[in-house]
Formats: sequence, structure tokens, C-alpha cells
Amino acid sequence: MKLVIKNKEEIAKSVAQIIVDEVKNNPKCVLGLATGSTPLDTYKKVIEISKLDKVSFKEVTTFNLDEYVGLDEKNDQSYRYFMNENLFKHLDFNRLNHHFPLIDNYEKYDDLILQHGGIDIQILGIGSNGHIAFNEPGTSFESLTHITKLASSTIKDNSRFFNSIDDVPKEAITMGLKSIIQARKIILIATGKNKREAVKKLLSGEIDISCPATILNTSLNEVLVFVDEEALG
Ligand code: PGA
Repeated sequence: MKLVIKNKEEIAKSVAQIIVDEVKNNPKCVLGLATGSTPLDTYKKVIEISKLDKVSFKEVTTFNLDEYVGLDEKNDQSYRYFMNENLFKHLDFNRLNHHFPLIDNYEKYDDLILQHGGIDIQILGIGSNGHIAFNEPGTSFESLTHITKLASSTIKDNSRFFNSIDDVPKEAITMGLKSIIQARKIILIATGKNKREAVKKLLSGEIDISCPATILNTSLNEVLVFVDEEALG
């Protein structure tokens, strides 16, 4: 695992450049994408750099980490809506190449990833409780894509995006920890002091299912962890 300490803006620039370089070198690459506030600046930079450099995303395939149960794609809190607004619609992606884990496909999601040759770069945020995607504390390191209940701390964290805490869905479908760890390159971004506790556990090298992100300490593939000073503590 490689630790990179930069400010928020520099992190976004660096990660965006890694993504764009991958697409330039391998136009048919497979990107694993995350939602939430963490990757927003990175996606803005991806759009900016790709437009400047005239990089085409036509043949890129994307797999998102997760989606809430019960929100349709027109709901502005769904992750399909988020991805479209914050990344997809700004570049020349082919809509047919986007994949999200949903009720009717999640059992085949891991096979689908394999059929596409696996994920080249997986972008990850981290929850204040150490979750990655919606793999909450206690999730098996052997988990594949599955339906899960959100931890109460996650419902509280995510309520800032909804009118009220009661509007936050209680269930989601998420790639599992085993699904995620198979990516050829993993980039985890953690910014802000809310992430300090989880980052500390991850960087301590421990491997503990009470902090799901620590599965990254078992990876034999490339893992880059970008943190800002606030998250580092
Ligand atoms: P955030 O969420 O990017 O909105 O902080 C991260 C996560 O829950 O994985």
C-alpha cells in the first residue's frame, strides 16, 4: 500500500490524471466508480482534463460500487442520477457500458465484472465507520455483491443529502469486499477529520472486519491511499 498525503485539490488532480492516463493507454479499460462527496472533485478534474486532452470514453466500461434499494434512476439521490450528473453526461461515454448493482442483476454482478476482464482501477471513499462501498463493519472479507442494511452511523452520515433522516434508504446493494479487492489497482481517497479514526485503523496495518477498509491491507495488487492532513490527524 502506498500512502500519498496532499491537500484536497491536489488529490483530485492526481487521481483524475491517473484515471485519464489509464483511459488514454487502454481505451477499453474498466473503471470501478464510487459516489458520495469524496470523488466529486476528482470527477470534475477528469472532465476538465479529458476535454482539454480530447480523451474519448466511448469504449470505457464502468461498474459502480453500490446503489440504494428503492430509489429509481430519476431520483436525484440515486447513485445512477449522481453518476450521470457528475461525470457521465459530461463526456462521450456509451450509456450501455455503465453498470450498477440492482435488485434484478446483483447476483450476476461479479460474473459480469469478470466477463469484462475485471476492474482496472477501483475508486473508493471510506465511511467514518471504516466502510467501503456499503460494506458495513462486520461484513465478511469473502463477500461478493449483496443486499445490505445500512449501519445507523451511515444513515446519519448520509442524511445530509436528504430532506430528513427518515428519507435515507435503509438498504442498499453493494459490491462485496471480495469483489472490490480483486481490482488491479485500488485508489482510496479520504479527506476531512470525520475520516480520521477509520484512516488511522487502515494505516495501522491491522486486518479487522470491524473496519472493512482494512481488507486493503491484505491486497497483493496496487493500493494507493490518498489522504489530506485533516484525515491523517
Ligand atoms: P462520503 O462517503 O464520500 O460522502 O464522505 C464516503 C463513503 O461513505 O464511502
